[in-house]
Amino acid sequence: MEQTVSLAALRAAKREWPQEGWTRVPFWVYTDPDIYQRELDTFFYGRTWNYVALECEIPEKGSFKRSWIGERQVVVVRGEDDQIHVWENRCAHRGARVCWKNKGKEESFTCPYHQWNFGLDGSLQGVPLKRGVLKKGGMPSDFDNSKHGLKALSVHVEGGSIWASFSPDPLPFAEYCGEEVITNLRRQFPGKKLKLLGYNRQRIPGNWKLYFENLKDPYHATLLHSFLITFGLWRADTQSESIPAESGHSIMVSRNVGKKKSEAAAEIARFKEALDLHDLDTVTPRPEFEDGKVVAITHFPSCVIHQQANTFGMRHVIPKGAGSFELAWTFFGYEDDDEEMTRLRVRHANLYGPAGFVAMEDGEVLSESQLGAHHYGHRCAVVEMGGREVDKQDHMVTEVLIRAFYKHYREMMDI
Ligand SMILES: [Fe+2]
Repeated sequence: MEQTVSLAALRAAKREWPQEGWTRVPFWVYTDPDIYQRELDTFFYGRTWNYVALECEIPEKGSFKRSWIGERQVVVVRGEDDQIHVWENRCAHRGARVCWKNKGKEESFTCPYHQWNFGLDGSLQGVPLKRGVLKKGGMPSDFDNSKHGLKALSVHVEGGSIWASFSPDPLPFAEYCGEEVITNLRRQFPGKKLKLLGYNRQRIPGNWKLYFENLKDPYHATLLHSFLITFGLWRADTQSESIPAESGHSIMVSRNVGKKKSEAAAEIARFKEALDLHDLDTVTPRPEFEDGKVVAITHFPSCVIHQQANTFGMRHVIPKGAGSFELAWTFFGYEDDDEEMTRLRVRHANLYGPAGFVAMEDGEVLSESQLGAHHYGHRCAVVEMGGREVDKQDHMVTEVLIRAFYKHYREMMDI
């Protein structure tokens, strides 16, 4: 891997950022394979924390879920004494995957190739024919199983969400998040038991960073998403905040204020005053948080955490090459939700996922941006809405979070 890193780094170093700095994004960041490889090494396989699963997905000893960090597969397992383990899905012998299912329950994991057997914690338990046959062959007598387990990752559990790092000494999780993000994360994950409500998956033909930029862009939400603006789940004139945070993260705060024709709406073509729903259930949340806020956190580099109306979701970003990523949605609630609240969370989940009333549009526009980047590496995106600075703002007509992100990105990538 070290060889790959240095070659990619060398080639990537030739890339120069436009003089204007963080108000411009050169389109080669979305298409260059060397930049992409360096991003995987710097972010996903580096000293970051990556979302992998929710605790409620692996409720019992031996329950597991297959997950991804960057392009690497990992398995999240509940082991003895409720301990959660995350290890690479890659046999220590010849590299084959030891787990072929997305979810399930096992007592141990056996590689299909030579049947090396691993415990729930990834330790090597058995090597067939280790002592040879008829006193011939077998492993050398000093072969030590304890040195050939599956590669274990660092693990942190925060209020029922599970995070992993390839780094043996990552920053403490709260420090990696920064104060604003950890406070907002704990608002939604206060330590109450979570309840799994369902999944969606989709493949978007765009660079993975475009997804983070989409969730750092309240400006588009006020213009693109008819459903949000027409039915009042998101309005340009709502009291809001755009908060850049540590490590490339950010927070967008809005409020569900209901439908209203305002001065701001006059400029917004997709605000349809005459448009109404016969059944308002999908756009009518039950008040839940005392602060009345609607919060979306981009947790770099692996996920977006949403709360909108009464739906909660983890949107897991899984890059697949420079020009494509998979988006795996996990919808959840709290175990102590009453029946009506669970019904609302599921109902409001219709806003999201590949065919969601809101999210469908994001998948389409991101693939448009990727088409616009392809073969246009010499051009730049302009990111000046809301000024040229990178400080917290109290409105939505801004691209400040994208500017702050590229400030962090360039520091980490040394471009
Ligand atoms: Fe959007």
